[in-house]
Amino acid sequence: MELVKSIKTQVCIIGSGPSGLLLSQLLHNAGIESVVLDRQSRAHIESRIRAGVLEHGSVETLLEAGVGERMLSEGILHDGFDVGFDGERFRIDLKALTGKSVMIYGQTELTRDLIATRLDQGGSIVFSADNVTPSDLESGNPVVRYEKEGEQYEVHCQFVAGCDGFRGVSRESIPQDRRKYFERVYPFGWLGLLSDTKPVADELIYANHERGFALCSMRSNTRSRYYIQCPADEDVNKWSDDAFFDELSLRIGEETAAGLERGPSLEKSIAPLRSFVCEPMRFGNLFLAGDAAHIVPPTGAKGLNLAISDVHYLARAMVEHFKSGNSVHLDAYSQICLTRVWKVERFSWYMSSMLHQFPDHSPFEKRMQRAEYDYVTRSHAGAMAIAENYVGLPYD
Ligand code: APR
Ligand code: PHB
Repeated sequence: MELVKSIKTQVCIIGSGPSGLLLSQLLHNAGIESVVLDRQSRAHIESRIRAGVLEHGSVETLLEAGVGERMLSEGILHDGFDVGFDGERFRIDLKALTGKSVMIYGQTELTRDLIATRLDQGGSIVFSADNVTPSDLESGNPVVRYEKEGEQYEVHCQFVAGCDGFRGVSRESIPQDRRKYFERVYPFGWLGLLSDTKPVADELIYANHERGFALCSMRSNTRSRYYIQCPADEDVNKWSDDAFFDELSLRIGEETAAGLERGPSLEKSIAPLRSFVCEPMRFGNLFLAGDAAHIVPPTGAKGLNLAISDVHYLARAMVEHFKSGNSVHLDAYSQICLTRVWKVERFSWYMSSMLHQFPDHSPFEKRMQRAEYDYVTRSHAGAMAIAENYVGLPYD
């Protein structure tokens, strides 16, 4: 008979992305034990290229968690960003409008910091765990089974945190009649290119051009990240680096393009754009957080920030439960998260709607986009509505 190895912990966390790692850190800081399981290797997780804009509240949460040291020294504070439309440009002055800034620091770097800190402190992260399967989620003693190197394991815990991203196993383990999905898939994607070149501007530029959306972003003063809107089914191999920079130049306008430094791509890939929410974010003793529960299109860089706010609420609720036996915040977790999630879904959908070329848009809808741009760039209230969302809505 095969022997199953048994592990006991307070919280089993599925997924070692930013959500799972930060949750594990916040629980550890409060003296609560967890085991993190991920199906990927550490090297794979540490090399995934993702977005890089942290809200004011995300920065505070990371600092409070004790994982923000390198972010503080290497990250760059931005006090504003530009939005553009058909060659016009306007700066949203985040600092003047809200008193706050955002931090430019890549999710890849943050993930490395989180893993290093957990492992240095003796935290338990199981990489390359196969067939992770949560069960008994409605009981007080859930079990998560997995395999690794031919051995079978069972993690016995009180709570399971589903932090395993959009394609994870957690959300799908909720019975269909106990969850509802809300989804919009956009009729285009983003082709992204990363290169070791000086960014074309000191701040980010989001631009709607008749040839399609373009975004100039960065990871540091020597590493640029650029995106252009492309068809959803585009083949990335069709795009040479030069073709990419040619198209980007057309969309950002001659004056800006004159300062565009070209360099070989370190990475080039296409990401689809999707809005998605699962309600509720809890089933029995399974709690979903981050991309496992919701997806936003990347216009506005909210994915990582929303993951951080979920985890902030979840850690608070679990700590309260373990320390005082009070489950008020645990019971309210899904509702508290979803109220903020839907506001951030709205902002990401709104920014995406204003800044992209939609193949099915009628002339009326094109005029609506233009009117929206004119409003936000000529009205204090309009600019403020963008700024307060961009720096991050407050945590309740
Ligand atoms: N079993 C175990 N681990 C899994 C499984 C599975 N069946 N499926 C997925 N995972 C792991 C993935 O390998 C990944 O490391 O879960 C992790 C999920 O991490 P992310 O996708 O980064 O999601 P999250 O931590 O919620 O972070 C949200 O990351 O994806 C971006 O746009 C997103 O910026 C946002 C942030
Ligand atoms: C990025 O730098 O990858 C980035 C920045 C802002 C966004 C999306 C992505 O809105």
